[in-house]
Amino acid sequence: MSARVASFAPLFPAAGADALLRLCERFGSYGMYGQQPITEELGRGLYQRHDAAMNFIRTGGRFGRQESFESLAVRTNYFRETYAYAEPVVDGIEPFLLHEGFIDAARRLYDRPVIRPAIVYANLLVPGQELAVHTDVPEFRGANRTRDPEWLLVVMHHSGLFDRWRMPIATAVSWFGGCTGGAFAYYPGGILAPPVALPAAHDTAVLLDTDSVFHGVDRVTETTTALPPLAIGMRLTYDGDGRWSVGNGAEPVVRYRWGDLRFSISWKAYCYVDEDECRIVEAHTDDLTREQVLATLLADLRTRGRLGETLPNGTDLALLLIDEYIRFPAPAPA
Ligand SMILES: [Fe+2]
Repeated sequence: MSARVASFAPLFPAAGADALLRLCERFGSYGMYGQQPITEELGRGLYQRHDAAMNFIRTGGRFGRQESFESLAVRTNYFRETYAYAEPVVDGIEPFLLHEGFIDAARRLYDRPVIRPAIVYANLLVPGQELAVHTDVPEFRGANRTRDPEWLLVVMHHSGLFDRWRMPIATAVSWFGGCTGGAFAYYPGGILAPPVALPAAHDTAVLLDTDSVFHGVDRVTETTTALPPLAIGMRLTYDGDGRWSVGNGAEPVVRYRWGDLRFSISWKAYCYVDEDECRIVEAHTDDLTREQVLATLLADLRTRGRLGETLPNGTDLALLLIDEYIRFPAPAPA
């Protein structure tokens, strides 16, 4: 069965799309998004999205490429900032946050009429960067990324054992400007069907359930032969006149022009059945606990014959859970 996907081309009238490019420039400075190793017992030493990173290293991603963990980090630590968090955090994002087309499509995605836009954020990828195939971090009543590791939330969703507590989220991804490469590759027909590669074309968008549909970003075309020495802590800064640079305050390590960059804006909204459901969420009257989540997963692992009476340590248990429940699409070398 094919996943529901709504497409927008164009998303805004020309002036509205240009206004978002100007907003991106005005915002001006974007931090590099990187992952820190987990310190709690469960999954100690792994990364928040160990599932996606491990799959990429193991398979070479969509194109079966060989990549070291270090170079994968440079390729996938892109630049990100938040434009709205329930409320706008930058002037001019309102037409995007409250886009009627997104809200309508979100209603149809899960047949849930009450839509609450939650977050709008900007993603900027520089040449040579890409995003490994993954599903997004889902959310449940009582379990979310502020209190639980991201890989665990992904395991929970793929296990199908916590659907009663799931908070369905509609995600729209939109593109502005124009770069070479950087297609949005997604698997609407599931992991056994071929992916669809959507060019990151100016003023277009798609809306889908990215918590369930695997997706990634193909490599943005490299304009130089080697990947620049990007590192966590660096910022991508707008220098005016269509120019950008990356550095950490001192002399930039690399300079770009608008046409080099892949600029996308993501929109996420909670989708509720009715106001009663909103109230249950807000009152926390039907929340999962970590104990309940682990007990459910351990019992299921035992039913599947994957776990005996002795529990492995927290890191090995996390690796077992990822391996058992998250099934990635196989690479299909071009
Ligand atoms: Fe994603």
